[in-house]
Amino acid sequence: MDDHSIIERYERAWIFFGLGMIVVFILLIGYTLVSSRGSIPLAVGQVNASEVRTQGEFANPRVEKVGRDYVVYMQAFAFGYLPADIRVKKGAKVTFYITSPDVLHGFNIERTNINVEVIPGEIAKVSQVFNQTGEYRILCNEYCGIGHASMISKITVEE
Ligand code: CUA
Repeated sequence: MDDHSIIERYERAWIFFGLGMIVVFILLIGYTLVSSRGSIPLAVGQVNASEVRTQGEFANPRVEKVGRDYVVYMQAFAFGYLPADIRVKKGAKVTFYITSPDVLHGFNIERTNINVEVIPGEIAKVSQVFNQTGEYRILCNEYCGIGHASMISKITVEE
């Protein structure tokens, strides 16, 4: 065997390796998109930030039961979240609509992929199915003022 055919074999092996990695990356991207479905926040509308507390859906922060699922209209404000006490059933899909009446806040649910930047006047939508019972804390991870560190709420997932 001459040197050329040995080099060709190496090159072929590396080309196949490269093509194989491209396939792996495409599969990983697909898996990420499928597994994170719902947890990527969508901007679904706008409200007048100064009217969030007095008009429209967010003036009445609440958990609504829709069939076996839930829709939550939520305010992230300085310094807390409304509704303060959220209770849902394990395995149900929970869709959150969130906005802020004042400044930028975070909406991060621990042990999930949910991590939203809540912009005053912008309505963000995210969904989550909670497959384990227990308490999930909601944390603000955007610095929003003196009470930022204590801006915590919770979701209770029941059997
Ligand atoms: Cu709200 Cu930090």
